[in-house]
Amino acid sequence: MTFLELLLLSSLPIAFSFSHFAFGATTTLLPDIEVQALQDIAKTLGKKDWNFSIDPCSKQPPWFFSNASKGHENAVTCNCTFANSTVCHVVSILLKAQRLPGTVPPESELVRLPYLQVIDLTRNYLNGTIPPEWGSMKLVSISLLGNRVSGSIPKELANITTLKSLSIEYNQFSGNLPPKLGNLPQIERMLMSSNNFTGEIPATFAKLTTLKDFRIADNHFSGSIPDFIQNWTNLEKLGLSGPIPTGSSFLAKVNDLRISDLNGTDMSFPLISSMTKLKTLILMSCNIIGPLPEYLGQLPNLSTLDISFNKLSGGIPSNFRSLRQVEYHEGMDNCYFSLHLV
Ligand SMILES: *[C@@H]1O[C@H](CO)[C@@H](O)[C@H](O)[C@H]1NC(C)=O
Ligand SMILES: *[C@@H]1O[C@H](CO)[C@@H](O)[C@H](O)[C@H]1NC(C)=O
Ligand SMILES: *[C@@H]1O[C@H](CO)[C@@H](O)[C@H](O)[C@H]1NC(C)=O
Ligand SMILES: *[C@@H]1O[C@H](CO)[C@@H](O)[C@H](O)[C@H]1NC(C)=O
Ligand SMILES: *[C@@H]1O[C@H](CO)[C@@H](O)[C@H](O)[C@H]1NC(C)=O
Ligand SMILES: *[C@@H]1O[C@H](CO)[C@@H](O)[C@H](O)[C@H]1NC(C)=O
Ligand SMILES: *[C@@H]1O[C@H](CO)[C@@H](O)[C@H](O)[C@H]1NC(C)=O
Ligand SMILES: *[C@@H]1O[C@H](CO)[C@@H](O)[C@H](O)[C@H]1NC(C)=O
Ligand SMILES: *[C@@H]1O[C@H](CO)[C@@H](O)[C@H](O)[C@H]1NC(C)=O
Ligand SMILES: *[C@@H]1O[C@H](CO)[C@@H](O)[C@H](O)[C@H]1NC(C)=O
Repeated sequence: MTFLELLLLSSLPIAFSFSHFAFGATTTLLPDIEVQALQDIAKTLGKKDWNFSIDPCSKQPPWFFSNASKGHENAVTCNCTFANSTVCHVVSILLKAQRLPGTVPPESELVRLPYLQVIDLTRNYLNGTIPPEWGSMKLVSISLLGNRVSGSIPKELANITTLKSLSIEYNQFSGNLPPKLGNLPQIERMLMSSNNFTGEIPATFAKLTTLKDFRIADNHFSGSIPDFIQNWTNLEKLGLSGPIPTGSSFLAKVNDLRISDLNGTDMSFPLISSMTKLKTLILMSCNIIGPLPEYLGQLPNLSTLDISFNKLSGGIPSNFRSLRQVEYHEGMDNCYFSLHLV
């Protein structure tokens, strides 16, 4: 058994050798093992500009760009309050839209950052798979959104009891969703749209009542969206493709509902009159027939309405004039009017 394995299996507080890594004139309060982990992670990700002559915890470029625009964050953050402020640990790595060409860091690298809470590699060119061993970490937020990551979601991720956000939209994930994910006690965001997942939504997901944001559109799931989502009473945002659940009428906190690409049979407009907080309603290509319900015109905060590529009839109810903020999307104009009204 290696030293690292011993460390991982040990339930005792982790004790590293704190022979602080020297950087020329500078030293860091970051343990050697974490510095070396960062060096390996840089190689794996293809991150070329991390300069190890500069303290990774310095909050200075190239480790931390305070001027980065939203969506392009480029920052390593440490918590330096350990052992009476004599020891730092890496707590967050944000590398968004950095054109990283490499692969997802394997377990041997990330687990050497035992205090890491946030790993955000949004919009890069990373491939590879999520290693099951990530399940041993105390992560709070994982984002691989917009990469080329494949394979299935390891069931071991269900061990991350601290996990609040899992964002893996726009990748090449496949396989079934592990039923064990239904055990995640704190999960608030589960964003999995635009992958190649198959199978059904596991029945265990009924327990995920902490969810605020759930998106699974544009996959290859079979079966319908289970009725139990009506028990996700904290849900604010929902994105699906698949038959609209009848239970959706209970989701009173939802302000963002996106349902697209239903290949089912014709259906009438879904009953969403209890979703009084709706700001965004997108029901694209859902084979919806019949008239638009009048209550839509009374939703006070609805500002984006996209109902393009349906088979609606009957025109826009007269009370829709009260929808002052509605943006009439091009798609709605083109398809709603020209294809189905004229
Ligand atoms: C790394 O930082 C050191 C110290 O600031 C500097 O002298 C060196 O040129 C930097 N290296 C690169 C490759 O930028
Ligand atoms: C941020 O600052 C760095 C130098 O510290 C500079 O190279 C970079 O262009 C700046 N980025 C933006 C978006 O202003
Ligand atoms: C740093 O870590 C300490 C000890 O775990 C914790 O109490 C504190 O809240 C952390 N600080 C930040 C800014 O996360
Ligand atoms: C923590 O550091 C402060 C200031 O360096 C020192 O006064 C104090 O005795 C230290 N506490 C412990 C428990 O070492
Ligand atoms: C990841 O991409 C690299 C080249 O960019 C390729 O050599 C490697 O085989 C790919 N790995 C996987 C798992 O697809
Ligand atoms: C996950 O937890 C189970 C027990 O709950 C344990 O057997 C398994 O080894 C853990 N896996 C990881 C990767 O930590
Ligand atoms: C998605 O999965 C299906 C069935 O498993 C497979 O035939 C297809 O090639 C996959 N598509 C992509 C883009 O991976
Ligand atoms: C919703 O939760 C209640 C109470 O926990 C439970 O009795 C009911 O079966 C659940 N509904 C669904 C559809 O799972
Ligand atoms: C719906 O059907 C069209 C054409 O039959 C197909 O191209 C598309 O992939 C299907 N979408 C889904 C979500 O199954
Ligand atoms: C509409 O938005 C306003 C401002 O954000 C908010 O105060 C109000 O509660 C919202 N109304 C509903 C029904 O959600």
